[in-house]
Amino acid sequence: MSSIDSVLKETRLFPPSDDFRTKANVSGMEGYHTLCEKANSDYQGFWGDLARELVSWRKPFTKVLDESNAPFFKWFEDGEMNVSYNCLDRHLESKANKVAIIFEADDGSVSRVTYRELYHRVCQFANGLKSLGVVKGDRVVIYMPHTVEAVIAMQACARIGAIHSVVFGGFSAGALRDRIQDATAKIVITANESVRGGKATPLKAMTDEALGIGNCESVEKVIVFQRTGTKPDHWSESNNVWWHQLVKGLPDICEPEWMNAEDPLFVLYTSGSTGKPKGIQHSSAGYFLGTQVSMKWVFDYKEDDVYWCTADVGWITGHSYIAYGPLGIGATQVIFEGVPTYPDAGRFWAMIEKHQVTTFYTAPTAIRSLIKLGGDLPKQYDLSSLRLLGTVGEPINPDAWMWYHEVIGGGRCPIVDTWWQTETGSNMVAPLPGAVATKPGSCTLPLPGIMTAIVDESGAPIEPGKGGSLVITRPFPSLVRTIYNDAARFKSTYFPDEFNGKYYLAGDSAHYDEHGYIWIMGRIDDVLNVSGHRLGTMEIESALAANPLVAEAAVVGRPHEIKGESVVAFVVLKGDRPEGEEGKLIAKQLREWVAHEIGKIAQPDEIRFGDNLPKTRSGKIMRRLLRNIAKGEEITQDISTLENPAILEQLRHSAL
Ligand code: PRX
Repeated sequence: MSSIDSVLKETRLFPPSDDFRTKANVSGMEGYHTLCEKANSDYQGFWGDLARELVSWRKPFTKVLDESNAPFFKWFEDGEMNVSYNCLDRHLESKANKVAIIFEADDGSVSRVTYRELYHRVCQFANGLKSLGVVKGDRVVIYMPHTVEAVIAMQACARIGAIHSVVFGGFSAGALRDRIQDATAKIVITANESVRGGKATPLKAMTDEALGIGNCESVEKVIVFQRTGTKPDHWSESNNVWWHQLVKGLPDICEPEWMNAEDPLFVLYTSGSTGKPKGIQHSSAGYFLGTQVSMKWVFDYKEDDVYWCTADVGWITGHSYIAYGPLGIGATQVIFEGVPTYPDAGRFWAMIEKHQVTTFYTAPTAIRSLIKLGGDLPKQYDLSSLRLLGTVGEPINPDAWMWYHEVIGGGRCPIVDTWWQTETGSNMVAPLPGAVATKPGSCTLPLPGIMTAIVDESGAPIEPGKGGSLVITRPFPSLVRTIYNDAARFKSTYFPDEFNGKYYLAGDSAHYDEHGYIWIMGRIDDVLNVSGHRLGTMEIESALAANPLVAEAAVVGRPHEIKGESVVAFVVLKGDRPEGEEGKLIAKQLREWVAHEIGKIAQPDEIRFGDNLPKTRSGKIMRRLLRNIAKGEEITQDISTLENPAILEQLRHSAL
């Protein structure tokens, strides 16, 4: 991750080419400033106009923003619309035969779905959900491979007003159970198996395991999409139904449920610094508007684009920039089931050539790993169709940025480094590519209408060059509405008292450079960012502590060349501290345990054992010291509050 020193030395500026600027949806800094000025002088008028331009309303709204019950803001609250209608029906007149999705499966086979076909498949599946008694407001958990059907499932929920909660297919049965339970889901949609990198994962069996753990009585049916030929080991005639049998013979037209603008569209769980993952609840209209504004401004959407976002629908990026954003604006998009390294590290580049991709959006971690595995591989492919590149999920180091720019973008494609979060629903800080000159490593300037500030602990603005906390000072349409079932936690987490409850606290530290550009430095809380995936240290610690061998555990992040950050766990066992081969064996068991409790993405890279953990006299674990030890750094800070200083020496030599 970049340090303030190194980023302050970054002086390279890449303005858009004349050609890009002239054709861009927002052209030049004049275009950017005009939009910002409108937002500054008439905030509600600005958002109201965009909502009328980019959203199709069943019943127009008369009120833009209601701040009376802050921070529970309401946008366009008396308007009615349906997100699925906006993604499908409204395109039928002009682009029914346009390809909506080019699907490339793990094995390389390709299928295409037009807007008309997608519309009918969504309608038919929506009728399937209805036939099982799903009604507006019911929760549906989606635990699917990254296929067209996952998007159909999400769109079908949106169509009938059911609230979907997608659980990433890489999460384990335990994590799935927690989410089903918190959402009190009525239906789980899964597949017999998912296939990635040539390997199958038995999602149906994992769903059975999740339900078997207990306390999932709310689930009435499990719908199973048949992705492969393999038969699930267990099948319950009363509780399981195959997707294809459910929809058989059902009408392929389904009137959308007209939703109030503020009705929830979905809940997506994400990690925080404390407790269990939080159910981030998004609205219908405001959320959807955020995706459309950014498709137009940040991704500079053009009718003949072939757009490809490599995220999985299990994350917010897959929600906003696969399931809703591109379909809402009527784009042709690529959906890829597999992994970037299978069958080799040229897969992304081969697919860009094959599908003539124009707009490519991926994560820095993928870029770094592909540089390492084959920095020259892209030269074997014709990448000249590309016109715009994007990154998301974590800071990108200037070296990786330059490689992306030169080797992938041929020096001609602007890079939009987009900063945002599960909670913000859509891009917040990112260059508008035809206007803002980019700098390697900076996400540059906020989108027009997004009011950011970098402040100290008291909420006072911080001068350029100094690190502070990134906040958003005014509500915006795609902002999280609440934490599902926990309004109090929503308020205290995101609108804390230290800022008088007025600012949205992002949880990232950042600083401005001399051009007013924003540089994200990383999280200020106990949240790790491993390969662009957000993980709470607490979650991993609780998983470890639930193992019968473990007395106590503390988890910290350590910078990692490819993953950005990696997980290091310090563990105290109930018995003696293990060393040598015994230690290695237990460490292996604990890594497998974490994979089973949460998922492989949360597995510690390193586990170290100690007789104890460094604690203050009041019993608080001093994680910053553990971070030093994990990095192999000298401890230069004050340790006078430490109860047991001798433990530092032991932990320093505890590498197995
Ligand atoms: O720390 C920031 C980092 O990812 C966090 C949000 O994670 P999540 O909710 O999982 O959403 C990821 C995809 C939007 C942020 O708090 N982050 C995201 N984008 C960037 C970033 N850090 C630096 N630069 C980015 N472009």
